[in-house]
Amino acid sequence: MSANNPDRGDAAKPQRMVIVGGSSGIGRATAEAAVAAGLGVMLVARDASKLARVADELGGVPWASVDMTDQSAVAKWTETLDAFDHLVITAASSSHGRFADMPLSDVRRMFDGKFFGPYAVAQACLPRIIAGGSITFFSGVLSRRPGLNCSGLGAVNSAVEGLTRALALELGPRIRVNCISPGMVRTEVYAGMPDDARQAMFRSTGESLPLGRVGEAREIAHAVLFAATNTFLTGQVLDVDGGHMIRQYATR
Ligand SMILES: NC(=O)c1ccc[n+]([C@@H]2O[C@H](COP(=O)([O-])OP(=O)(O)OC[C@H]3O[C@@H](n4cnc5c(N)ncnc54)[C@H](OP(=O)(O)O)[C@@H]3O)[C@@H](O)[C@H]2O)c1
Repeated sequence: MSANNPDRGDAAKPQRMVIVGGSSGIGRATAEAAVAAGLGVMLVARDASKLARVADELGGVPWASVDMTDQSAVAKWTETLDAFDHLVITAASSSHGRFADMPLSDVRRMFDGKFFGPYAVAQACLPRIIAGGSITFFSGVLSRRPGLNCSGLGAVNSAVEGLTRALALELGPRIRVNCISPGMVRTEVYAGMPDDARQAMFRSTGESLPLGRVGEAREIAHAVLFAATNTFLTGQVLDVDGGHMIRQYATR
């Protein structure tokens, strides 16, 4: 995959990618893939010590500790940024629960952590993203393939996908906007679960999929690089999900 965008005036210069969520899971795998493809990378997340460690492991890439749900912190950070090509936002927070019991405050927190955070970051970064650049958001299969006790998360994912299409229209032709919708992927997001339960969940979800397994972060990273660098792709939601959208109906 070329690290050069033919639409840029300075095509000789490596493209630069800012990855919000770059210290873990899919964001980290995207950073690894981007570095390997010759892009310049900046990692953003909250935990500074984790960021410093991952940045070091990636050969000393720059990083910034920013909580994307804190609008003034986001504004302050973007003031320090040079122009760059690609914004990728994998950062998110999510929670599950029965619709009947789930407190509205939890759902609002999830919208802050997976919709308004990315919205604010994209808006604040806009003046820094060069013509020919891109924004890649993240949703998830629950937007169109609901699961029990996941109504709030499904709604957030749908909102992210709607925002993607609207921004692709509004920001084109200068900037392309796409969204990756992963299926279940083995990342640190499940680190809080007991080992046995996590493995059982990966196994049973994997068995329900045409590809017979859950995904790996590098497989999603591959799609992020494609979305960011393909110069004729915009307004798309890419399902990178092992066939989750066409899987057999689950039994209750
Ligand atoms: N893994 C899956 O099975 C799966 C399935 C469907 C959809 N997705 C979606 O794919 C995306 C990536 O998931 P993942 O599994 O890679 O997650 P992950 O491993 O938990 O990584 C999340 C990253 O985001 C950062 N982050 C979280 N909240 C933040 C905030 N408020 N401000 C700045 N940084 C923040 C985290 O670092 P700090 O905590 O240090 O901030 C971390 O670097 C998410 O949108 C997720 O919903 C994942």
